[in-house]
Amino acid sequence: MSTPIPIRRPRRLRINGAIRDLVRETHLDSRDLIQPMFIVPGQNIRKPVASMPGVYQVSVDQAVLDARRVVELNLGGIILFGIPAHKDETGSEAWSDSGIIQQAIRALRGAFGDLIILADTCLCEYTNHGHCGPVRHGGIANDETLELLGQTAIAQAQAGADIVAPSGMMDGMVAAIRDALDGEGFSRVSILSYAVKYASAYYGPFRDAAENTPSFGDRRTYQMDPANRREAMIEAQLDMDEGADMLMVKPGLAYMDILASLRQVTDLPLAIYSVSGEYAMIKAAAERGWIDESRVVLETLTGFKRAGADMILTYHATQAAAWLRAQ
Ligand code: PBG
Ligand code: ZN
Repeated sequence: MSTPIPIRRPRRLRINGAIRDLVRETHLDSRDLIQPMFIVPGQNIRKPVASMPGVYQVSVDQAVLDARRVVELNLGGIILFGIPAHKDETGSEAWSDSGIIQQAIRALRGAFGDLIILADTCLCEYTNHGHCGPVRHGGIANDETLELLGQTAIAQAQAGADIVAPSGMMDGMVAAIRDALDGEGFSRVSILSYAVKYASAYYGPFRDAAENTPSFGDRRTYQMDPANRREAMIEAQLDMDEGADMLMVKPGLAYMDILASLRQVTDLPLAIYSVSGEYAMIKAAAERGWIDESRVVLETLTGFKRAGADMILTYHATQAAAWLRAQ
């Protein structure tokens, strides 16, 4: 009895690099990548984040240096998080004209005309209790937060942000921000909504970087239950109806199924946020020599694109763009 000879031989299209290039379905480009940055008050500050090797809290002057590299490497943009000098009950530095993020946006906008600048629009770095809105009767006050998010988005737009990215998972946040921006003549500023954001343990290292750990309780009354997929579709639909220009899924790796499902139901651009814990895991294993860092990073980022992401927010962004250029 002879072994049948295969008619279909998929290996033919893997014979060499040139053929593999020809039939590749997904292409990762530096333009897909968005680099997060943490901005602190002061001058000449570059403070390492212990749980995120290679990530720093930087003062505005240093952020300009980092952004120069982002521009050179042709990244898609940067997203800014601010750590204010003073926190209070409502997070008022978030919308202050002299707030840390507004200062950073102005400096970066002045230095780089074409750089796409996203501002994370949330209050948790600015409140003294670390929640994403004011606390009333032991809970986070949704509708009061909407008002403050509107003001924050206006301040960020005034400073020169191209895109505001509300991340607090408040009901109605996209509509409130759209209304506030349009009311002040900022109809050209777009909204990337963290539409589908889960209450995730993967945010652990970020809390060191952004100093926004809740002083009591957790975020499970506003961020989503990791067990829910259908609810993600509801959240996404609401934000589309409210006028979101782009939608985000967060975290990344553990939620690629959600991204792929969303891709089926919307034609809006989709972003995925590969969060601090995902970054920390790769860095930790790479430091021990257990994985090949550049290959694992590029494979992971390619996976996000294959699953349906148009853009990827990742702490690897600048490094990954350098690797892509060297390929
Ligand atoms: C706060 C915010 C968080 C992240 C982005 N914006 C943390 C949180 O919700 O606790 C997480 C980013 C990361 O872990 O990399 N609204
Ligand atoms: Zn928040």
